[in-house]
Amino acid sequence: MDLGIAGKWALVCGASKGLGRGCAQALVREGVNLVINAREPGVLQQTATELLAAGDESAGATGQKHAKPQVLCAPADITTPEGRAAVFGVPGGPGRAFDIVVTNAGGPPPGDFRDWGREAWLQALDANMLTPIELMRATVDGMAERGFGRIVNITSSAVKAPIDILGLSNGARSGLTGFVAGAARSRLAARGVTINNLLPGKFDTDRLAATLTAQAERSARTLPEVRAAHMAQIPAGRFGTPQEFGAICAFLCSVHAGYITGQNWLADGGAYPGVH
Ligand SMILES: NC(=O)c1ccc[n+]([C@@H]2O[C@H](COP(=O)([O-])OP(=O)(O)OC[C@H]3O[C@@H](n4cnc5c(N)ncnc54)[C@H](OP(=O)(O)O)[C@@H]3O)[C@@H](O)[C@H]2O)c1
Repeated sequence: MDLGIAGKWALVCGASKGLGRGCAQALVREGVNLVINAREPGVLQQTATELLAAGDESAGATGQKHAKPQVLCAPADITTPEGRAAVFGVPGGPGRAFDIVVTNAGGPPPGDFRDWGREAWLQALDANMLTPIELMRATVDGMAERGFGRIVNITSSAVKAPIDILGLSNGARSGLTGFVAGAARSRLAARGVTINNLLPGKFDTDRLAATLTAQAERSARTLPEVRAAHMAQIPAGRFGTPQEFGAICAFLCSVHAGYITGQNWLADGGAYPGVH
């Protein structure tokens, strides 16, 4: 299936690794021009080089040949106003005139809510609620004027099934989820702009590896034992891959997904047991 988005411009945040990178890769394969963002410039540049190679082969899933896409780097902390200004000001980029925006940043640390004061909460809200809202505020009206726009927010399965030690994430991402439910149904929906959240369960990324390594160290189990124990709780029997995640994101960004908005898409190998 040709996703119909070749030549469009996408901003993918947190794109040097993991799920953001998976989204960037799936989009560049469809011939989408990218501005990719992460804080560490060297890793980001290396990712851009690899994405460009993927874009060179950008035959799309159906073998359609697209024009060679551009991949521009915007190394910055996306959770700061300066970082967002840098992303919108990247030389050769589209300014704020993105057609597709994938919001993403690191998740807040785990812990006990008794230890978190106002500063910890403000940081979590900045990263996982207010930054995506600021990115939408900067881009959606231009998308509506041009009659096409796609926002995909990477959130978490914890929005549907909150995890006790992830209180900062549960709270901040639930705030974003509530905001999106309203904003997606505003005047944007009739003007070609969709806003959806993509909720990862357990995906094999550096972040998951760090979490599981810490668990192994605390529990006197080996890392393979800890990984196996987590996989055993997932009906699919495995962790997801960033490539799978990126493919879902690319579909939500496609011309075919114009009638899907305000939704929370869970990708968790069946781990969430409920029907809603
Ligand atoms: N993987 C999972 O199983 C899973 C499950 C549920 C939720 N999530 C959520 O999904 C998101 C992505 O997770 P992941 O597993 O892909 O993490 P990851 O492998 O650690 O990758 C995170 C990416 O975001 C970038 N980043 C982090 N903070 C940033 C910031 N302030 N500004 C710009 N870029 C930033 C990182 O690069 P730099 O460090 O160089 O900035 C990196 O490119 C996180 O919010 C995570 O909480 C993941």
